[in-house]
Amino acid sequence: MVFLITGAAGFIGGNYCHIMTKKYPNDMFIGFDALTYAGNIKTLAPVMERDNFRFVKGDIYSKEDVKEVFDNYKIDIVINFAAESHVDRSLDNPLLFVKTNVDGVALLLSEALQRGVKRFHQVSTDEVYGDLPLNRPDLLFNEDCPLKASSPYSASKASADLIVMSYYRSFNAPVTISRCSNNYGPYQFPEKLIPLMIKNARSGKKLPVYGDGLNVRDWLYVADHCTAIDTIVRNSENGKIYNIGGNSEKNNITIVKTILNILGKGEDLIEFVADRKGHDRRYAIDASKIKSELGWEREYKFDDAIKATVEWYVKNDKWLSEIESGEYLRFMRSHYGE
Ligand code: NAD
Ligand code: TYD
Repeated sequence: MVFLITGAAGFIGGNYCHIMTKKYPNDMFIGFDALTYAGNIKTLAPVMERDNFRFVKGDIYSKEDVKEVFDNYKIDIVINFAAESHVDRSLDNPLLFVKTNVDGVALLLSEALQRGVKRFHQVSTDEVYGDLPLNRPDLLFNEDCPLKASSPYSASKASADLIVMSYYRSFNAPVTISRCSNNYGPYQFPEKLIPLMIKNARSGKKLPVYGDGLNVRDWLYVADHCTAIDTIVRNSENGKIYNIGGNSEKNNITIVKTILNILGKGEDLIEFVADRKGHDRRYAIDASKIKSELGWEREYKFDDAIKATVEWYVKNDKWLSEIESGEYLRFMRSHYGE
C-alpha cells in the first residue's frame, strides 16, 4: 500500500514515518510537507535513505502541489498530520490557522476522494471538546461530547472534523478521525511546553509557566499516538471517530518540576508569567472506545518516557539548536519578550 503522510517533517508525522517505514517494509510512505517554521527536513534524516520512503515538498493548501503528488504516486491511504499546531500562535494569527487547518484539509480531502483513496485519516485533537473544570475529576471527554473549541487553533481543528464527517454522511467517504491528548517525545518543536522547558532549563533560562500552573493536560508518548493511528487506519470501519489518551493527567507545574528534577536543576528557574488568553483548564480523555473496539492501549508509562525524552533532547542538542532560526526567534521574542 502507498501512504501519503502530510506534515511528515513535523513532530508527530516525523515520528510516524520513523516507526512505520521500519514496521512495514512492504508499504511505501510518501512524506509531504510545506516545511513551515515547524517542519524540519532533518527530522526525516533517519528515513530519507530508506527504499520505502520519499519526501515531497508541498502545501496542502495548494491545488497544484496536491494534484502533483496524486499524479506522481498511486496513493491508497492519506494520513493528514499537516497543521498549524501551536495555540499561542493561533492567538497571534488566527486566519493562518483557518487557511491551513480548514481550507487546506478540505482541499486535500476533496482531491484524495476524487482519486479514490481507500482511507483518509484526519489527525485531530482532544482540544476540539473545549475544556473541563478542575473540580470535576470524574468528567472525561468521550467521542460523543459536543465540539466546544476555545482557541482559534482548536476551532480550526473542530471545523476540519465537521467537514471530514460531512463527507462521510453525504458521500459515504472512507474517512476516520482520531482525537489525541498532548504528546511528548523526540523531535517536538521547542515552542511547546515540554521541549521549551527542557531547552530553557539546560541553558539556565527562566521557565515561563502561564497563570497558576495548575492547568491539566493528559500526556501521551508520541510513539503510542503513532501506533494508535496505525491501528485505526488498518482496522477501523469508515466514519469512525476515536479518542486517544495516555490516562496520565498532570498539571503544568508538575511537568516543569519533573523536568527540572531529571536535569538536576533548581526550582528557582520557574517564573510564573501572564496567563494565556482563554487558557483551557483541563483536558482528560476517555479512550475506552479504541480499546474495546480495536484493542489499542498505550505502551509507554509517563515516568519512564519523560526521562527518555529529556535524555533525547540532551543528546540531540544539534537538532534543537538548528531550529532556532529567524522565525523561531521572532515568535519567541514577540511572545515572551527579550
Ligand atoms: P507540528 O507543528 O510539529 O508539525 C506540523 C507539520 O505540518 C510541520 O512539519 C509543518 O511544516 C507542516 N505543515 C504546516 N502547514 C502545512 C501545509 N499548509 N502544507 C503541508 N504541510 C504543512 O505539529 P505536531 O505536533 O506534529 O502535530 C501534528 C498533528 O497532530 C496536527 O494536526 C495536530 O493538530 C495534531 N495533534 C497534535 C498534538 C500534540 O500534542 N502535538 C496532540 C493531538 C493532535
Ligand atoms: P502546549 O505545549 O502549548 O500545548 P497545548 O496548549 O496545546 O495543551 O501547552 C501545554 C500547557 O503548558 C498549556 O496549559 C499551556 C502551558 N504552557 C506554559 O505554561 N508555558 C509555556 O511557555 C507554554 C508553551 C505552555
